[in-house]
Amino acid sequence: MVILKTEEEIKKLREIGLIAANILKEAVDLIKVGVRAKDIDNMLGVLADKNKVKNAFKGYKGYPANVCISVNDEVVHGIPTEDKIFKKGDIVSLDYGVEKDGYYTDLAVTVIVDDGSDEDKKLVCVTREALYKGIEKAVVGNRLFDISYAIQRHVESNGFSVVRAFVGHGIGRNLHEEPQLPNFGSPGCGIKLKEGMVLAIEPMVNAGSYDIIIKNDGWTAVTADGKKSAHFEHCVAITKKGPIILTALEGFNA
Ligand code: MF3
Ligand code: CO
Repeated sequence: MVILKTEEEIKKLREIGLIAANILKEAVDLIKVGVRAKDIDNMLGVLADKNKVKNAFKGYKGYPANVCISVNDEVVHGIPTEDKIFKKGDIVSLDYGVEKDGYYTDLAVTVIVDDGSDEDKKLVCVTREALYKGIEKAVVGNRLFDISYAIQRHVESNGFSVVRAFVGHGIGRNLHEEPQLPNFGSPGCGIKLKEGMVLAIEPMVNAGSYDIIIKNDGWTAVTADGKKSAHFEHCVAITKKGPIILTALEGFNA
């Protein structure tokens, strides 16, 4: 069942989305050559306390950290370990969620450490653009897979592939709610989009093939061909006035 949100709840979700985006920006600003992913994870513990929110991923289905940090061929759910040390040119995606007053938010960004190759920059840009192409379709009266198709089309027309094994999702009083939102699909198909739906839209884009493998830690998804991957995510409310991006922060991910 898709749970629709009231205007009041959407306001609340925007407040929380903004807090989460501010926190994530602070963490992303710390990413430099030689910094360890574990340092970023620790900092997110401190920042969550300071902002009086809970880190939503910690303990979720046993997930062991505050944030997912996925580097290069890691697609999603990378664990921020001590030995994950950033190098120049690394593609680093951070996926972060918080809970406050029983409501959840979820967002992801990908950055390149110091400076990267043109191909890697293109992968990151196209993934970010694909997210916004999807958001544009999050409009009352459209169908769910209009979002999926817009993302897929942008990614594939740029020569990259859309990961199949993970999807976007509804969000609200739970981190994951219905509907599931694939990043590929046929336009005109899927459920009708209604006022009050809140969706986490999150394209995961591989430079090579879309196949992934889960590593032995039970979490980290890596590309099967070892090529790089990028990920962006926003929570978006569908309203009469059009899509509202709940996790956007001017100068960071907006
Ligand atoms: N943004 C990720 C998702 O929607 C969050 C994963 S939560 C984790 O799948 F804790 F399981 F990592
Ligand atoms: Co998500």
